[in-house]
Amino acid sequence: MTLVLGIESSCDETAAALVDGNRRIVAQRIASQDEEHAPFGGVVPEIAARAHAERLAPMIAGVLEDAGVTLDDCDAIAATAGPGLIGGVMVGLVSAKALAMASDTPLIAINHLEGHALSPRLADAELAFPYALLLVSGGHCQILRVDGVGRYRRLATTIDDALGEAFDKTAKILGLGFPGGPAVERLAATGDAKAVPLPRPMVGSGEPHFSFAGLKSAVMRAHESGKYAPEDIAASFQQAAVDCVIDRLRIALAAMGPVETLVVAGGVAANATVRYALETLAGEHSMRFTAPPPRLCTDNAAMIAWAGVERLQMDGFAPDPLDISARPRWPL
Ligand code: KG4
Ligand code: ZN
Repeated sequence: MTLVLGIESSCDETAAALVDGNRRIVAQRIASQDEEHAPFGGVVPEIAARAHAERLAPMIAGVLEDAGVTLDDCDAIAATAGPGLIGGVMVGLVSAKALAMASDTPLIAINHLEGHALSPRLADAELAFPYALLLVSGGHCQILRVDGVGRYRRLATTIDDALGEAFDKTAKILGLGFPGGPAVERLAATGDAKAVPLPRPMVGSGEPHFSFAGLKSAVMRAHESGKYAPEDIAASFQQAAVDCVIDRLRIALAAMGPVETLVVAGGVAANATVRYALETLAGEHSMRFTAPPPRLCTDNAAMIAWAGVERLQMDGFAPDPLDISARPRWPL
């Protein structure tokens, strides 16, 4: 049975996991750095890199111990090689290179976005290519047609902020702390989504791209006006964001050709209102909807290990060379 060790360190989660060819997460550990970054209201790259450097090696040892295996039992070591905060990415990639070299195990450099893009197939054995993918995280906001491993056609991206970033900025404006997405979702559950008039940027545009900067500014103005309760602002923001996503997806789905399944991945895919709206949209298009469980939506190493399994199983697989570079930017 194929077994791959995955390593993730591109933002503020340090994570290691072992995943097998039967989609089983054999072991996984994850350490969030929320406490380190909270005083600064966002991720501080230098602090993140240092925290990864301290935690990663013992974490990898722990995951191997949890599973009762050694590196010799692994068919590959898959590590995020970008995009992300370069210091953190280097910690994970260099660790993977050292382990690969020492144990003579193939190295697979994974694009973090590919990890998110394939994560729904780890959770759902029925999910076949091609599928329509909404990839929404703190750094990215894209609509893709996924035709196979390594075969991604991007139909839409954001011209300014990512959706997760918009949630995080709204949380900051409302004083909800960091990370913002889950806090906004919790507060929104107690508010009125129709209470605050907010714009729906790009809605009606013929191209499926996103923009959230104007929505964030409107949230700021609504808050500063003193006229609205924070829970109503949170609920109205969340609804405006969801309306934008659904409108943009309608345009993209019309342009991408027939696909049977609509899929969401990335940190914002953990949001229940977003998931519900997508499920409804899929129903309208007679499409199936699937989303990974929330713990596989936010950054984790199981999705990186799984992307490694998928790459390993491709015809003509070749390991990546030990001199491969970490990449701060790396479009899919
Ligand atoms: O995928 P991810 O963990 O890291 C990146 O690759 O960026 O995504 C993190 C983003 C953050 O912006 C966070 O606020 C957002 O996902 N997020 C959420 C929720 N959980 C995480 N946004 C809305 N609702 C949530 N429940
Ligand atoms: Zn991510």
